[in-house]
Amino acid sequence: MKKNILITGGAGFIGSHVIRLFVNKYPNTNIINLDKLTYAGNLENISDIDKKDNYKFIKGDITNADFIYDLFKKYDFEGVIHLAAESHVDRSITNPNEFINTNVFGTANLLNAAKDAWKDNYSDKLFYHISTDEVYGSLGETGLFTETTAYDPRSPYSASKASSDHLVRAYRHTYGLPTVISNCSNNYGANQFPEKLIPLSINNIKNNKQIPIYGKGENIRDWLFVQDHANAIELIYRKGKAGETYNIGGNNEWTNVDLIHRLCKVMDEELGKKKGTSEKLITFVKDRAGHDLRYAIDSSKLQTELGWKPSVTFEQGIVLTVKWYLENEKWLNNIISGDYKKYYQKQYHN
Ligand code: NAD
Ligand code: DAU
Repeated sequence: MKKNILITGGAGFIGSHVIRLFVNKYPNTNIINLDKLTYAGNLENISDIDKKDNYKFIKGDITNADFIYDLFKKYDFEGVIHLAAESHVDRSITNPNEFINTNVFGTANLLNAAKDAWKDNYSDKLFYHISTDEVYGSLGETGLFTETTAYDPRSPYSASKASSDHLVRAYRHTYGLPTVISNCSNNYGANQFPEKLIPLSINNIKNNKQIPIYGKGENIRDWLFVQDHANAIELIYRKGKAGETYNIGGNNEWTNVDLIHRLCKVMDEELGKKKGTSEKLITFVKDRAGHDLRYAIDSSKLQTELGWKPSVTFEQGIVLTVKWYLENEKWLNNIISGDYKKYYQKQYHN
């Protein structure tokens, strides 16, 4: 009998890279992808693996407790890798309840179902929760987030992720559920929905539209190539210790304005445009409410204890990313739906 692993949110940006990695690496394990297919979920992200024998897609909502309970009765999961979430900070500012519902109640439903389904024998089981560096709050000019940094979430998104992390730790402490959490910095790469800074800017440059930079563009993010995050998740699933937390990050800090200048340079090269063309589209717009100044991750625990390291530099990764978006115009056009257009107009007033 093949073992079963449940991966939630596998039609989203990071989840699709994780699904592909597991399906290809573990042909003798069934990989079950549970996804509601919200605006951010797209089965095209994983169309290359959807015919594989060890892959199954289930459309479903983690906020539906009965459905989740039945799913755990039907399948004998050896593990859960939980990525499904509402993930965009700006959307959380306009619609916090959606985030609280999915990220907090959805996670609680999965924890309850795993706890009950596995209660007779927790050994060889793992509930792996994918979280974010944003739970740690905002840094000043110096310092890094470590696994022991106190939580200080400051947006409805990060507060909902922090709540879900707390629930995961509480289930470990109270019921002994074997859990692991990882907190990762900003991801970039293929298949990211074009509401996030990098794909939004690529799409705008391509269409000769303004590149909106919030405030003065001085906010700093620590960028990691998405496949390096997926590799870290696979490693932690295999080798991580129950009860532990692992920070994942690229050691790759950029102010937003410097990042966009670099992106403009790559876009000019890839589109065969004169140097400096794309930069002219940069526009400074109203700042994000409560905009965190700086995130930066110390991933030394993951590197020394489990031997992870990033496989590409940012300079390589950003070129790969730009090429992917330019070569996958159909993917981009298909997801720029009516819903996206409405969101874009509301957010940027154009
Ligand atoms: P995403 O928004 O691209 O994808 C989220 C996926 O979850 C989508 O496929 C969506 O359909 C699914 N989903 C949403 N609500 C659901 C529900 N109620 N039931 C079932 N499925 C549902 O997100 P992402 O950027 O790929 O992030 C994935 C995870 O990684 C999230 O938990 C996020 O907090 C975390 N994370 C993201 C980043 C980043 O830079 N993107 C960094 C660190 C951590
Ligand atoms: O740090 C990890 C987090 O990274 C993840 O947990 C989130 O799911 C993910 O969305 C991401 O959050 P950010 O808010 O950092 O990503 P975003 O791409 O939305 O914004 C990156 C930076 O760029 C941030 O400082 C805000 C700024 N920004 C963003 C957009 C969309 C702009 O200046 N202009 C924009 O139009």
